[in-house]
Formats: sequence, structure tokens, C-alpha cells
Amino acid sequence: MSPSMIAPVVEEENKKYQRGVKHLCETGVTKVPTKYIWPEPDRPIFTKSDKLIKPKQNLKLPIIDFAELFGPTRPHVLRTIAEACETYGFFQVVNHGMEGDVSRNMIEVCKRFFELPYEERSKYMTSDMSAPVRYGTSFNQSKDNVFCWRDFLKLLAHPLPDYLPYWPTSPSDFRSLAATYAKETKEMFGMMVKAILESLEIDGDGDEAAGELEEGSQLVVVNCYPPCPEPELTLGMPPHSDYGFLTLLLQDDVEGLQILFRDEWVTVDPIPGSFVVNVGDHLEIFSNGRYKSVLHRVLVNSTKPRISVASLHSFPFTSVVKPSPKLIDEQNPPKYMETDFSTFLQYVSSREPKWKNFLESRKIGHRLK
Ligand code: OGA
Ligand code: NI
Repeated sequence: MSPSMIAPVVEEENKKYQRGVKHLCETGVTKVPTKYIWPEPDRPIFTKSDKLIKPKQNLKLPIIDFAELFGPTRPHVLRTIAEACETYGFFQVVNHGMEGDVSRNMIEVCKRFFELPYEERSKYMTSDMSAPVRYGTSFNQSKDNVFCWRDFLKLLAHPLPDYLPYWPTSPSDFRSLAATYAKETKEMFGMMVKAILESLEIDGDGDEAAGELEEGSQLVVVNCYPPCPEPELTLGMPPHSDYGFLTLLLQDDVEGLQILFRDEWVTVDPIPGSFVVNVGDHLEIFSNGRYKSVLHRVLVNSTKPRISVASLHSFPFTSVVKPSPKLIDEQNPPKYMETDFSTFLQYVSSREPKWKNFLESRKIGHRLK
């Protein structure tokens, strides 16, 4: 075929992939299309029988019993949180006070959302990064060279009354169940911020940052990973760190999340009903590098669909994020430049986002290559 004939074919193929992996699976696939095949060094490591070669046992993240934060052992829990944020950038929370029904209903209604006909889901497809509701696929579908095996629904969630009118109306109970979930995760985040600040020895009362976080941004990201015929060739999400202060992740009972720990990818064991909490770039900046936003990625599998709900919380979109003045002195000069949301948006729209590039670019002394 001459190049002029290939171009329309490629364009037609690309259009198909823009509709997402759920749609692709519905049309029937028995092999992973080239568009989703990652270069060998970036692929997960599987044996021929589709079993993941595990570097060691699944990772047991430090477990925080949230109820203990309100009892006599609070100082001990705060130390565990500090150690977890320094060593892993991740911890799991149990006994967090959210009723099992709220999280189960959220996963279940999200499953039903992704089962809607493509025409219904695609009403929310937009390239506008600041849209209150955004349906899409891969990581950044307008920039990614290789696609990820993931579709998503992103919902802006705070202040809720501003955004709720834009949320999907189908399934008919989506709005009410997702709104309850968003409100309750926001409350949980509020309690976690107090604990995190205290663990950094910052008095939250009257602290400017604490006030801003209370009124801050919340983005609920629902991730849908359909079963994949050749999971050893692709990824559900590439290695990335989360933009924001903290992410509260709810997973169903299917494993898939891996974090980079001591230079190895380790799988996080899902604990039913728990939340996985991770340090985002903003908390790394705010803590002046004491707490680290750690790279993580998602693997897919050949048999079970997986749903996760990540709630990303941070300062208001209009805020300037900087190391806390309370953690800076002559011995501890700031390690990061001040940054804001528009700088981030410019950054992601200018290149293929991956690894921790954005955060790296905010480090003082960083040289653009
Ligand atoms: C994310 C994320 C992990 C998962 O949404 O940023 O890392 O397990 N999700 O889906
Ligand atoms: Ni993430």
C-alpha cells in the first residue's frame, strides 16, 4: 500500500481506540492490538502460563486503624503514618468509619455505568481537562503513543453543589450513590489531613494550608480495566505519581495495583473494605520532600474485570503550592519551586506525561534537559 492509502486506515484504527477498551472488548478482541503493546522493558513480567512472576510476596502496606487515631494511641499511629509516608509513600486504612454499603454501592454503580451502551458513556467524552465530568481512555489519550488498557470517568466533586448537576444521570441512582461516596471520602480526607499535619509537627489549627485543604479540590476518578487477552503485553496504567495532596483509593477485590518499592514493582494486596492512601506530588512539595509521592502502575489480567475509585484531594485549583513555611529554615531551605494548577495543565498538554516528570521539573536546581 502506498503511504497515502495507509494514512486513512491508520486514522480509522486510531478513531476506534479513542472509543476506549470497554468498547474494543465489546467488538471482540482475541489479541492485544499493537497500539496497546508496551516496549519490552516496560511490560509486566509473566510466565507463559499467564502467571505473573512475583519478585516476592505481595506487599503488605502499613495498616492504619483509623479508630485508633481518636484514642490514647494516637501518637503511635501518627508515627506509623510518618514512617509509611517516608518509606512507601503509601498506607492502607481500615476502620475508617465509612459504612460498607457506601463503598460497595459506589463500586457497583460504577460497574453498571461502564456496562451502559457506548453511546451513553461517550456523552461525557471531552478533551477539555477542566470539564466537570470527563469520560476517556488510556492515560492521556491525546498524547499517549502507546495506549493503556483502561477507561475512566472523572468527576469534579468539591464543592459538590457546583458539579453535581453535570454528573451522569444514568444509571438513575448514580448521582445519589456517587455523591454520598464523594462527601464521605472528603470527610475522611479532612481527618487524614489533620493527622498528616500533626505527623509533620505542624499545628493544623489556624494553619493557612490546613484551611485551604478543607476547601480544596476533589476529583473522583473511576477506573475500569476490562479483562485483557494478553495482559503480559500491556498496562492498565503506566508508572505515574498522583498530582494532588493525598489520593484515597478504593479497589474491588481484584489485585492490579503495583508500587515501586526498593526498585522493584510489588503488588498491593487488596484488603476488602479498606482504602489505599498515597502521598501526592503536592504533599511531597508541602513537606519539602520529607514525604514522597511514589511511582505506581496498574496491571491487568485475562479473566476478571477490575474497578477502582481514586479520590484525589488537594488545595483549591487557584492556590499556589509550596513547601510549608513551618518546615523551612536556614538549615532546611525550600527544595521545590512554588507551583500552580495552570503550570501543571501547561505541562501535561505539552508532552506525554509519565514517571514523575512534573514534580522533577519543580525541584530547585533542576535543569531542563
Ligand atoms: C490512579 C491510580 C490505581 C488503581 O487512579 O491514579 O493510580 O489501582 N489508580 O486503579
Ligand atoms: Ni495513581
